[in-house]
Amino acid sequence: MAAYLSSSKMIFSPMENDKTDRKNITEKERHLLETNQDGPALKLETIAIGHHNIRLNVATWGSALGERIWPLAKVLCSYLYLRHDVMRGVASLLELGAGTGLVGILASRISHIPGRSVLLTDQDTRVKRLLHMNIAENFTDLADRPRCAHLKWGEGLDQFEATHGTFDLILGSDLLYTRCACLPLFQTVGKLLDKKPSSLFLLAHRERRTKLKRYIYQHSKICGLTCREIPLGDLPECLELTRKMDEVWYEANGAALCKPSCIFEFRWNLIGRNITEHTTI
Ligand SMILES: C[S@@+](CC[C@H](N)C(=O)[O-])C[C@H]1O[C@@H](n2cnc3c(N)ncnc32)[C@H](O)[C@@H]1O
Repeated sequence: MAAYLSSSKMIFSPMENDKTDRKNITEKERHLLETNQDGPALKLETIAIGHHNIRLNVATWGSALGERIWPLAKVLCSYLYLRHDVMRGVASLLELGAGTGLVGILASRISHIPGRSVLLTDQDTRVKRLLHMNIAENFTDLADRPRCAHLKWGEGLDQFEATHGTFDLILGSDLLYTRCACLPLFQTVGKLLDKKPSSLFLLAHRERRTKLKRYIYQHSKICGLTCREIPLGDLPECLELTRKMDEVWYEANGAALCKPSCIFEFRWNLIGRNITEHTTI
């Protein structure tokens, strides 16, 4: 694994977790921890990305998908760390299907976006509980903390926008493993990505199903976005990490497909549109 990204592990049960030094957590978060006994056993993992140590509670067994750190979250983190200029000028950030929150928490740390303008979302109740805990774990100052909200792609988007607004940057890692999830995902991005040329959606993607990429291109286009695979050749550490993650994954899960993972960037398709920084599509 690349030198700037490493992980050390410490096993906790949920109650042992509660005994650790958590002076800074709120009453609500303490309650979430105390009521986690029905949930999966947790361990606390520290992911080091450069000089940023992100402490994450992750599930050890019987967990929902998002209660573990997925390899592409690390890939997207390495990209954001090496290319943190992509966050220059970004005033608001949304993570979709955030899981443990690794990507959003790192992005919040390395950007200058105020905590209240970073929103980490997921559809799963247990995952959101973990997300709350992990946000508390990494931000001692309440004012710096990213927020957390429920969001199921394609549902309640008008209400969500009315409550939270739109975002300059949207992030997602390892979100698509079925074709039917593509359209709701891009409808969500189409609704919540701020309508300006600089707005950007980054998606770290593993091609688990044949032709999923084709659906990604098609559905993002339907929703008014252009799609481009980011060449990682000029970021050898990120490329190496991606290859390593793929190697481990395909070894464990069968190499039937064996398509390299990638990072997509999506922007508003401006061809034929008279868009400026402040007009609405
Ligand atoms: C494979 S996990 C990836 C989690 C995290 N992004 C990572 O890379 O570690 C997929 C995440 O997307 C969430 N998810 C799946 N379908 C969703 C949907 N329709 N709406 C919102 N979230 C969804 C799951 O709850 C889960 O947390």
